[in-house]
Amino acid sequence: MKINDIANQLVTAGKGIMAADRPSPAFHNLLRSEGIAVDEDAYRNWSELLFLAPGLNESVSGIIMTDEQARLAGSGGDSLIEQVIERGMIPGISPSKGMVTLAGSAGETVGSGLDGLRERLAEYAEMGLGFSKWRAAFQIGPGTPSYYAIEANAYVMAQVAALSQEAGIAPIVEPEVMLWGDHNIERCFAVTEWVLSRTFEALYLHRVDLEGTLVKASMVLSGNECAEQADVDAVAEQTVKVFRRQIPAAIPGIVFLSGGQSDYHATARLNAMNANYELPWKLSFSYARALQREPMAIWRNRAANVPAAQAALLHRARMNGLAALGLWTEELEGEAVAS
Ligand code: 13P
Repeated sequence: MKINDIANQLVTAGKGIMAADRPSPAFHNLLRSEGIAVDEDAYRNWSELLFLAPGLNESVSGIIMTDEQARLAGSGGDSLIEQVIERGMIPGISPSKGMVTLAGSAGETVGSGLDGLRERLAEYAEMGLGFSKWRAAFQIGPGTPSYYAIEANAYVMAQVAALSQEAGIAPIVEPEVMLWGDHNIERCFAVTEWVLSRTFEALYLHRVDLEGTLVKASMVLSGNECAEQADVDAVAEQTVKVFRRQIPAAIPGIVFLSGGQSDYHATARLNAMNANYELPWKLSFSYARALQREPMAIWRNRAANVPAAQAALLHRARMNGLAALGLWTEELEGEAVAS
């Protein structure tokens, strides 16, 4: 499949992406911190629960996985990638080797793993992975993000995007402006505008084909510790405004990260954008936490809990699929809980 066909398929109307690329050490730490017993097979059990949830493909177009997950066989012996493809979803890869501190900065970060990436991407394409995702994380604070961190991350994201396209893999570029802090929504808007502007400049310099690229973006939000929290409509308005200024219409779609928002807010805000605005790109989701928080709490690494955890995952995926069409309502949440 051509990269722009992959990008367009990922943002098929009413569908979004499930980000499942939490690396296994982080996953195990999370389970332990929740008091959930961890065994050797926990990572495979969880990945299988997510990837093979019956009916997931009705609202999920693609799944972002780690290198380890991409090489896993399910309990039946077949590779998880093959089973994802059989179910009509596109498997994608997070090829980063983790965040490292940017030398000379005040603790700002950049993703690592560029060495050998060309060869790894060629192998991923061979394995059947259709897209990649690479994240940059910007913390708003006194003096941050710095011009240096924004430029360095924009260059790395653009380099990964160009290498992905060379391998026939559609890149998702993820410049996340994090919600942690006491900044107001105006500051988040200004930082997001700056970051997006520099990111697209770098994509242009790296000759990235925008028609074959998706953006994974953060919403324009009040910081989580800001005394005045912008409401759903204000978030939708400011987010659409910054995208209209800085994201070319050639991009087929923008998929959001949830970034620590509640499940409810991640859905309601996405819905408000699609319900109230005419937009040149598809706006959908690429959530990890806002899809998996509830299923994980139910699952607790017990086989008997898998069907209930999958039902919870399916519910969140459906709600977000409807939000991608602007057709979600609060009543639909209630009906599902009652049924
Ligand atoms: P969250 O939706 O939890 O922010 O994760 C998104 C992500 O980037 C993982 O790939």
